[in-house]
Amino acid sequence: MTKIALITGANKGIGFETARQLARAGGIHVLLASRDLSKGTAAALQLQGEGLDVTAVGLDVTDPASIAAAVKAIDAKYGRVDILINNAGINPQDGTRKVSEQHLATWREVFETNLFALIAVTQAFLPMLKKSDAGRIVNLSSVLASMTLHSDPTSGIYDFKIPAYNVSKTAVNAWTVQLAYELRDTPIKVNAAHPGYVKTDMGGPSAPMEIVDGAKTSVALALLDARGPNGAFIHMGETLPW
Ligand SMILES: NC(=O)c1ccc[n+]([C@@H]2O[C@H](COP(=O)([O-])OP(=O)(O)OC[C@H]3O[C@@H](n4cnc5c(N)ncnc54)[C@H](OP(=O)(O)O)[C@@H]3O)[C@@H](O)[C@H]2O)c1
Repeated sequence: MTKIALITGANKGIGFETARQLARAGGIHVLLASRDLSKGTAAALQLQGEGLDVTAVGLDVTDPASIAAAVKAIDAKYGRVDILINNAGINPQDGTRKVSEQHLATWREVFETNLFALIAVTQAFLPMLKKSDAGRIVNLSSVLASMTLHSDPTSGIYDFKIPAYNVSKTAVNAWTVQLAYELRDTPIKVNAAHPGYVKTDMGGPSAPMEIVDGAKTSVALALLDARGPNGAFIHMGETLPW
């Protein structure tokens, strides 16, 4: 049976490439979600032009009405979701400000999209994931979430203190562990992915990793078999420190 995969924030960047690679894997119908449906439709058309099984879906992850409409439409058409990739994310921070001086409004904005919206989308689609034989949830985190590495002066990320973004991803990791506990005796697995430092609009042009590689961790976690981890924090098959 064809699997149904839903990817948020998939009109560009890592989400778009994840849509491409999942559709290429075969046996998967990819729902390419975007908050601006015209951008998502253009992205889906591009992948359809490559012969891939992709449909655009409108989904603003911070808008409860948009989430409810997407749930209704997907439930009516497919009745279940096998793979949910919570990919949408933002990093609007002023990197020149000190940790202590980031505006509270920025903290709230970042947490709204990166954490609360991710939880809201997961809650909304969990009933459909429970209808899958092997549901998979992939939460886009970041190595910048790692408290262990942030506390280690010898680590490569030690000086990358963009606190609202970093802490929002630390919270995504914590949420992943909490949800994995609840789902431990079900066929559903939920894991956190660090994609790499990737050349996207967010990562910027000097990031070392190409988008084609940046999608690989999400794709691998979406395609885990029954022996795969639950509640792990992974980059390219390796476990990262919390
Ligand atoms: N790039 C990196 O180096 C890197 C490293 C670690 C983790 N990550 C994580 O990987 C994920 C993808 O990042 P990326 O580099 O591909 O970023 P990107 O190119 O900036 O793409 C972000 C995507 O999220 C969407 N989005 C933002 N707010 C949304 C909302 N409210 N509803 C729906 N979609 C929304 C954007 O839509 P619009 O086009 O409409 O803005 C866009 O499609 C993010 O969670 C990011 O934190 C990236």
